[in-house]
Amino acid sequence: MSPLELQLEISRAFSPTAPIDEKSLFSGRIEQLTSLIRAIGQKGQHAVLFGERGVGKTSLANVLASFIGTSNTIIAPRINCDAGDTFDSVWRKVFSEIVIARDVLPVGFIGSTEREALPLDNLVPNQLSPESVRRTLSQFGGGSITVVIIDEFDRLTQEVKRQVADTIKTLSDHAVSATVVMVGVADSVQELIEEHQSVERAIVQIHMPRMAKKEISAIIEQGMGRLNFTVDTEAMDRIVTLSQGLPHYAHLLGLHAAEIMAQNNLTSVTLPVVDKAISNSLDNAQQSIKTAWHTATSSPRKDNLFSEVLMACALAKTDELGYFAAQDVREPLGQILGRQLEIANYAQHLSEFCGAKRGPVLQRIGGSRRYRFRFINPLLQPFVVMQGFSKNKIPH
Ligand SMILES: Nc1ncnc2c1ncn2[C@@H]1O[C@H](COP(=O)(O)OP(=O)(O)OP(=O)(O)O)[C@@H](O)[C@H]1O
Ligand SMILES: [Mg+2]
Repeated sequence: MSPLELQLEISRAFSPTAPIDEKSLFSGRIEQLTSLIRAIGQKGQHAVLFGERGVGKTSLANVLASFIGTSNTIIAPRINCDAGDTFDSVWRKVFSEIVIARDVLPVGFIGSTEREALPLDNLVPNQLSPESVRRTLSQFGGGSITVVIIDEFDRLTQEVKRQVADTIKTLSDHAVSATVVMVGVADSVQELIEEHQSVERAIVQIHMPRMAKKEISAIIEQGMGRLNFTVDTEAMDRIVTLSQGLPHYAHLLGLHAAEIMAQNNLTSVTLPVVDKAISNSLDNAQQSIKTAWHTATSSPRKDNLFSEVLMACALAKTDELGYFAAQDVREPLGQILGRQLEIANYAQHLSEFCGAKRGPVLQRIGGSRRYRFRFINPLLQPFVVMQGFSKNKIPH
């Protein structure tokens, strides 16, 4: 490979800012794919795919068609919602993604009919309602499988969400064979289900957790494999630890590591390469993430513990929605400081992280003594861990 070809291959193999759209680059997620495909096969079933930011929801939605489309014809339009969308505009986007072929008579009506390709939105009524959407979805499609993917569902207003829920109800009641998949962050989906209990049975909830260690290492292996680079075990372990289950960070570290490899004509990714990749990733991190880190941790007092406590928060064990309790911070904090602290010694830090003065960087739920915390921006969390490694605060 020439250096320029290699550079191009590197950016194909590792894409920290773009969702995956190619099956060969997609790693893991077998459980979630299986649940989705099961819902698609079942008439009257629809699905929500929910999880934290950056965990890989859009990527899964993108490759779904290629997993079922090998021996079936599949129509799987995916659209992104935004705050200004109405029910009508959402479905118009969906129908404009579906192109149908129909027979038309030639001008003058003489001779045989001709095939014409037409986006479906040209054929639907002016103001779409749940009923007209159902009629449209049940009329076209023939033998093909139809999966409508509504991404960024959380951006819709309550009113539009309610109308989508009504649509699902009517699709389900009429056993229309199209499947609607709503994709969004966790909280909005739970709200939807709670408020529209009549649709609960029609909707399968599929949680996208953070990736398992072996799924993260598969991303690195696949990417580096494409570039003919091998990866040392220790180097792999460090990338996996730092990524915290977020594929975005695996791609970011992979990208920087691969560039260092190319610049130095190396063939095997080693620990020093990963450490250099960490510092390059920190330098290139989004400005908003760097600012959040500084706001949260700066203090005139030299012996303050804000950065250590935030690092320990980033390493704390969380539940499936990303929340941790004060006591989950104790163990990682002990490892960072080399001595054990009691919750009372760092409770004030946690509470400041939830206030405007330090960001806030953490969100707090539950009553006092049962507080649970979560990073408001989940992408800050691996950044904090990388800071810890690069400053030698977190034991290597
Ligand atoms: N299964 C996967 N295999 C390899 N890389 C993945 C996988 N899933 C996600 N990624 C990578 O992780 C990053 C985030 O993925 P994606 O944009 O799909 O997440 P998301 O959950 O839709 O995020 P958001 O909530 O911000 O919309 C991207 O760089 C993508 O390339
Ligand atoms: Mg997305």
